[in-house]
Amino acid sequence: MTAFAERLTRWQRSEGRKALPWLRTRDPFQRLVAEVMLQQTQTGTVAPYWERFVGRWPTAAALAAEDRDVVMKAWEGLGYYRRCRLLCDAAERVVTDFGGVTPSDYASLLTLPGIGDATAASLAAAITGERRAMIDGNVKRVLSRVFRIEGAVGEKAFEAEVRSRAEAELPGTEDMAAYTQGLMDLGATVCRPKAADCGRCPVALLCRSHAETPGEETALPRPK
Ligand code: ADE
Repeated sequence: MTAFAERLTRWQRSEGRKALPWLRTRDPFQRLVAEVMLQQTQTGTVAPYWERFVGRWPTAAALAAEDRDVVMKAWEGLGYYRRCRLLCDAAERVVTDFGGVTPSDYASLLTLPGIGDATAASLAAAITGERRAMIDGNVKRVLSRVFRIEGAVGEKAFEAEVRSRAEAELPGTEDMAAYTQGLMDLGATVCRPKAADCGRCPVALLCRSHAETPGEETALPRPK
């Protein structure tokens, strides 16, 4: 395992966010509901909605059978209502295409409405340990700082370098869930957009931004 993956994984297991309610389950459908809610909404807002939602519709079959207007009502306050419609579509497809069993492999997840590359990779890593790189805005920020990936977010060269680094750092199957969650936890609580709390960072000692531009770790990633 790389030093980065090793430190991040160990840190997630000891210091990572444990209170996030969806981390208590490995049920693919319930985790999928969480990831869709988290696509555009912060963890603190999502938590109570997710608890209510999966309490009411614990399975894809239950959600698929529910009246759309009733589901939309439960989504009220989360915003981006298109996500809710796509989630209902996904539940229907789980019933028709997968016999009601929510898939947990990357390729099958990608076939579901509303599930893109990052969500499919995140779910597959969390549930089965499949070695897929989850790359969202937080991950781009962390990797660009630690490995000094210059260039602007959205630029072809930047995106390609992030992906190649993300794939090179992936640990083995047994560590993928903790590693991927660790990347998200680090981006959310330590290596934040406008403040980097390097004193608490498990990878500060191998962070190129910290070593080469101390005090200016937040200069990367460069804005579009
Ligand atoms: N954002 C997207 N997926 C997440 C997860 N599993 N935990 C915390 N934040 C997230």
